[in-house]
Amino acid sequence: MITRPTHPPASPAASLAALAARKATGEKIVALTAYDYLTASWLAECPVDFILVGDSLGNVIAGYPSTLPVTMDEMVYHTRMVVRGAAHIPVIADMPFLSYEVTPEDALRNAGRLVKEAGAHGVKIEGGEADVAAAVKKIVRAHIPVLGHVGLKPQSVLQLGGYKVQGRTTQAAERIREEAHALQEAGVFAIVLECVPHLLARQLTRELSVPTIGIGAGNGCDGQILVTHDLLGWFEPPKKFVKLYAHFRTEAIRAVTAFARDVRAGVFPSPRHSF
Ligand code: KIV
Repeated sequence: MITRPTHPPASPAASLAALAARKATGEKIVALTAYDYLTASWLAECPVDFILVGDSLGNVIAGYPSTLPVTMDEMVYHTRMVVRGAAHIPVIADMPFLSYEVTPEDALRNAGRLVKEAGAHGVKIEGGEADVAAAVKKIVRAHIPVLGHVGLKPQSVLQLGGYKVQGRTTQAAERIREEAHALQEAGVFAIVLECVPHLLARQLTRELSVPTIGIGAGNGCDGQILVTHDLLGWFEPPKKFVKLYAHFRTEAIRAVTAFARDVRAGVFPSPRHSF
């Protein structure tokens, strides 16, 4: 049975600001992706803490082999759609490749577009190197909440040579730790830890005062995020860190095959579906 809250929901900004306190209470943060109005509108009926308009839309929606081609204009367009559907749920928009790496001023201008033109309640940025931390600081100073992202950074795929678990060696784990602490220092409200060993994620979660949100990072984080299309089974077989909660691809193929069979057999539309 679906139970819906009876009290009026808090505003998206208030809900986002309240997430920091969840570190202390231990109530896990739940986040999912959306790229369009329809998905956001039904996610708004679920107990989800925030929606991420991930630049993973480059893979999932556009069919690119990576997130690198995704543009600011595309992020603004998709974020606008999601904000229209998300109702009371906060919406965080990803800053795409090369939208924040050049100067902190560019980063602020682009973060500002996602807020002013699209209605995002915050932005996400990959990495925690000195220049990225400077960009984060600039954006946070303009009162825009920033979600950090370390570990596997899909926008670094050319340098990484593929999508691989990060932080397996002491040295690599130390780099991730330094980035996470630099982001915390720069003022992020939480940090995504993507595809890192679960012990490293647990250790970072203990060390940091801001919540950690894992994806492929084990269950020691303060919250979890997944690509909604992944957990619904639109892409099978699933990645190792994804649990399938439905099999939408199989079900969609079954439904469309049945439709085609009915049309070809002349049994759809029936009198019941005709005027
Ligand atoms: O782009 C994305 O969807 C993401 C997450 C899944 C963390 O960055």
